[in-house]
Amino acid sequence: MSVRDRFPIFQKKTYFNSCSQGALSVEVQQAYAQYLKDWDEKGSPWELWVERSETARQAFAGLINADANEVADCTSVSAGVSALASALDFGGERNQVVVSDFEFPTVGQIWHAQAARGARVVHVPAAGNIIPTERFAEAIDERTKIVSITHVCYRNGSKLDIPAIVELAHRKGALVLLDAYQTLGTMPIDAKALKVDFLAGGVLKYLLASAGLAFLYVRKEFIPDLRPTSIGWFSQANIFAMDIYANTPSPTARRFESGTPPIPSIYAGIAGMKLIQSAGLEKIEAHLREITGAIKEGAMRRGFNLASPVDPAKHGALITLRSHKVDLLVKRLEADGVITSSRDNNLRLSPHLYNDQRDVDVLMDCLAKHKDLLV
Ligand SMILES: Cc1ncc(COP(=O)(O)O)c(C=O)c1O
Repeated sequence: MSVRDRFPIFQKKTYFNSCSQGALSVEVQQAYAQYLKDWDEKGSPWELWVERSETARQAFAGLINADANEVADCTSVSAGVSALASALDFGGERNQVVVSDFEFPTVGQIWHAQAARGARVVHVPAAGNIIPTERFAEAIDERTKIVSITHVCYRNGSKLDIPAIVELAHRKGALVLLDAYQTLGTMPIDAKALKVDFLAGGVLKYLLASAGLAFLYVRKEFIPDLRPTSIGWFSQANIFAMDIYANTPSPTARRFESGTPPIPSIYAGIAGMKLIQSAGLEKIEAHLREITGAIKEGAMRRGFNLASPVDPAKHGALITLRSHKVDLLVKRLEADGVITSSRDNNLRLSPHLYNDQRDVDVLMDCLAKHKDLLV
């Protein structure tokens, strides 16, 4: 069975919306069936389910070259980042949070919520469809506690220069949180080589699973001194101690976890991550470079306006086109069997390992048909 054949949606649709939700594979379907089977046949197999959580943690650690002890299983990026924020002290001189204007709203909102605890949020504005690294240099100084950056912008596909920003932040003694949701599963990501201090992401997009499972990576050296206050019984050193008289955080990144893990999503997440690992991230990256290249080339040849940068080094797996009636365009494409999405006035086209040139041809024919909606 080819990779594409594992995703039944392609029998009926042209799917280009992996930046929002990865397509459903046979493997993920089977994983959900297995969860129901285990529940049905075993009753309440919590030992197995805790073991599944550990397998998910290890799978994610393997994807980003981290140690499993540096990974917290979370129910969303929001939960992981909130736990992290709750562990940071904004009481002193170093109380500034530098946030790129490309962040997903949840991240900006969580940092603004820390204003009640003394944090001061500084935004780094975009210049057109990019944020020049110099703008980070202007914003980061000795008062910066943490720099919060996304790898690829969910609105326009623009990719930040992570190593350069990390270097700027560390030179001033600031920490770095990378939101890798839009790149995980599309390219090799090595948290150690990138030298980020924290990394967050989830499984429902390019990791090919579904809602309910995300992860927070915390660099080993920082774990002992960070004591989150947004916690739960799964964050404790001994989950089953059932101690109501004390908070005894796990010595590992599990201290950033909360309550009962999302077991069904964990079954699916393991299956999704396995598919990605067996396809190989270098191969996926090379394939996506080809497909995004074909989309850009086809769009520019037809005179459509790219909202993403043209330079392949400056965008992710998401290519965006400007439209003056983007909601209508998404609907018309859907009626043609082409699944896309939008943010701002941008049509979002996000291929993955399962898309090929046939899909690009179908997409281009449909876009040409609706060119009145593309500026
Ligand atoms: C870059 C990025 N961060 C975070 C999220 C979502 O975070 P959460 O898991 O909290 O819903 C998304 C998309 O939904 C995203 O694109």
